[in-house]
Amino acid sequence: MEFPTTRMRRLRKNAKIRDIVRETKLQKEDLIYPIYFKEELQAMQKEEISSLPGEFRYSLDAGVEFAKQLENKGLKSIIVFGIPKEETKDEIASPDYSATGIVQKAIRKLKKETNLVIISDVCLCQYTSHGHCGMIKENDDTDDGIEILNDESLPYIAKVALSHAEAGADIVAPSDMMDGRVAAIRQTLDDEGYENVMIMSYSAKYASAFYEPFRVAACSSPHLGDRKSYQMDPGNAIEAIRECELDVIEGADFLMVKPALPYLDVVRMVRDEFMLPLVAYNVSGEYSMIMAAIEKGYLTERAISESLISIKRAGADLIITNFAPYLLLNDVIE
Ligand code: PBG
Ligand code: ZN
Repeated sequence: MEFPTTRMRRLRKNAKIRDIVRETKLQKEDLIYPIYFKEELQAMQKEEISSLPGEFRYSLDAGVEFAKQLENKGLKSIIVFGIPKEETKDEIASPDYSATGIVQKAIRKLKKETNLVIISDVCLCQYTSHGHCGMIKENDDTDDGIEILNDESLPYIAKVALSHAEAGADIVAPSDMMDGRVAAIRQTLDDEGYENVMIMSYSAKYASAFYEPFRVAACSSPHLGDRKSYQMDPGNAIEAIRECELDVIEGADFLMVKPALPYLDVVRMVRDEFMLPLVAYNVSGEYSMIMAAIEKGYLTERAISESLISIKRAGADLIITNFAPYLLLNDVIE
């Protein structure tokens, strides 16, 4: 039909009409909040993160209190990150799989005091003295003279996942990008009787500049070199399908694309190709660039919901985002 019979603007006439014809809506159930627990902080202490305006590193008590506050406003799930004491870090990420580690404590307390779905980020970089997501050794044939070892890292990653499961995590989320880690984790969890703990794999995780604010927040930058030999090259989308395919074969329960906004085409491709629930990680840099623009007066807060709805429209079922408190505490979404 053509003009004047068809008038597209009829469906945009007023808010009532727009509300009932909207194809994609952001819901509370879609949000996963990344929360950062810092071992050094005591009692109700929290410290603002300079690279993530409005976001904090929390002590155990303060973080769980904030999680409860968000739960009261409708939050359903949370992903837990730990920032251990600097002096406890070593070559083999020991504080990462200690039963009394900061993440293990946080998971136990959240499990006891909330009804949230508890997801734990599984990686070594916040706990290794060198800041890489795996074990390392010298190798002249690499960009930086060090090789990030694959197979040698798997038992450590599986150990971390197991310790999180033992603490009560519902879902473990490996973010290291080593080959075969989903299979290694699945095997270990099953052997130890945690066959119902789910794996949310950071399937297509790119070597992105948009993680910078997080690395400042978590003190997890590699001391030497970068992560390009294990995280994906930003030019590749087809390769993301191969990564997801392997994760499915290895037993992942959720797939993930990370970052989200610069990779919406990848989100859509993965959505169309696979039947698993799909998570998109709206990473720290995506948060901070909008927050900075709002602070400067270049953008208004409307940019927040618009960028998140674009991620859902691209095909994500769930979105990990630092914007969750803004959306929930200000009743921006129902
Ligand atoms: C650790 C990890 C990172 C993020 C989540 N888990 C950083 C990295 O890979 O360097 C990024 C989160 C964010 O930027 O919000 N592997
Ligand atoms: Zn890592």
